[in-house]
Amino acid sequence: MTTFVLFGGTGDLAKRKIIPALYSAFVNGRLDADFRFIGAARERLEDQEYRQRVADSIAQYAAKVSGGSPEKLAAFLDLTHYAKIDARIPEDFNTLKASLRTSETHATLFYLATGPDIFIPVVEQLSLHGLVEGNARVVVEKPLGRDAQSAREINQALRRYLQENQIYRIDHYLGKEMVQNLLALRFANSFLEPLWNRKWIQDVQISISEQVGVESRGDFYDHTGALRDMVQNHLLQLVSIVAMEPPVNANPDAIRDEKVKVLRALHKFTADEVSKKTVRGQYRAGAVDGKPVIGYQAEPGVPQASRTETFVAIRAEIDNWRWAGVPFYLRTGKRMASRSAEITINFKPIPYSIFGQSQGPMRSNRLVISLQPEESVQLFMKAKEPGEGIRLSDVALNLDFAEVSNSRRVESYERLLLDAMHGDLTLFVRDDELSAAWEWVDPIMLAWQNDSEGLKSYIAGSWGPAAASYLLAQHGAAWGEEY
Ligand code: BG6
Repeated sequence: MTTFVLFGGTGDLAKRKIIPALYSAFVNGRLDADFRFIGAARERLEDQEYRQRVADSIAQYAAKVSGGSPEKLAAFLDLTHYAKIDARIPEDFNTLKASLRTSETHATLFYLATGPDIFIPVVEQLSLHGLVEGNARVVVEKPLGRDAQSAREINQALRRYLQENQIYRIDHYLGKEMVQNLLALRFANSFLEPLWNRKWIQDVQISISEQVGVESRGDFYDHTGALRDMVQNHLLQLVSIVAMEPPVNANPDAIRDEKVKVLRALHKFTADEVSKKTVRGQYRAGAVDGKPVIGYQAEPGVPQASRTETFVAIRAEIDNWRWAGVPFYLRTGKRMASRSAEITINFKPIPYSIFGQSQGPMRSNRLVISLQPEESVQLFMKAKEPGEGIRLSDVALNLDFAEVSNSRRVESYERLLLDAMHGDLTLFVRDDELSAAWEWVDPIMLAWQNDSEGLKSYIAGSWGPAAASYLLAQHGAAWGEEY
């Protein structure tokens, strides 16, 4: 039996992601027969009031879950309870303890969907009340710290009360179907590995563009910025999976051992390199999909003169034998032209064209792994167009996962919550990975703090500041949409 205790149970993440994920797992029969869900937050609420909020969040964010029905919803609400818990009030944890005891819990999963300042007080109280012994696990949400130092402090504090294998640091990008598929693509096929290195690869591009702005999170976002919000975690996790060496097996630590080596091999920038190899931007008013939108500084909760970046592009490098000299172009931004998350492996051009110049400049082969909105892998090759003479064109060998399989699509939060309930750490971030990622990000943040002029602006609905195109153009490269 599992009891799932959600701290931050009334918050935004709970509403949008965690509750819908639990409900989806429930209707698809993926939860234990005796599963119980306890939402915890500071507000005083009766079970019934909390159930109403849970029902509202399901209506808003999980209305289309396959298999959902009013009966299923009622059954899910029956398993749902509420606990008023203030992390600073030890007595509140007594009540929680009593409710966990009476249910003779075998496994308890505590999910901390709260600000990081609450992690330690909560874990301390859980420990003092004997709640993290035995089969208890704790999931912590990002942001885990603001820099290497604070991340280390959080990790050390967590480790005072928990074993490393009880700590599930969530990065929801790791739960995306295609991220796992990347492991299959790389390590279950023979033809890619000989090409997967500096000899055959020109550059790697990882781009996550969003159309949304900062939504209701202006205040949080303004203290965070795109580098901490997206690059330090999601983008670097993708880099580590694209660039890692084959692990000895598929066990969590074997995989994480290889990922952390990549993160440690990322070339750390000097201040001068930061100014040459990074671009940061902030959106101003514009239009996304034809609809006018306000600029970042006019968003609720954002100070008018904010210098926080909503866009980042970086020319990263990995100092090791496989990747030396291969740029990893990373990009992410809010209020961009379209929503997509893509990894593009650009192979080197052919050494010489026997077809002459008449064909115009030829874009070399590329492998495009699309995480969203579609889940696909496309290998772009040159082929002859049908008809007289030889005219070459770019054609894609297209693996569209919506067509290949009609198995149920599992959202990343659902997958990760189930993994945490089953004790599978593979898709969670280990403390050394987290530290290595921050250590690479720190010099960039520091250099940006000392260079207030470096922030460029871009029109909402565009692909970011022009400097981001120049970052690649000066090396003869271009972002996917620029071809
Ligand atoms: C979150 C960031 O981690 O990822 C958000 O905090 C961002 O700012 C979100 O919008 C993007 O996730 P996805 O899955 O929609 O690409």
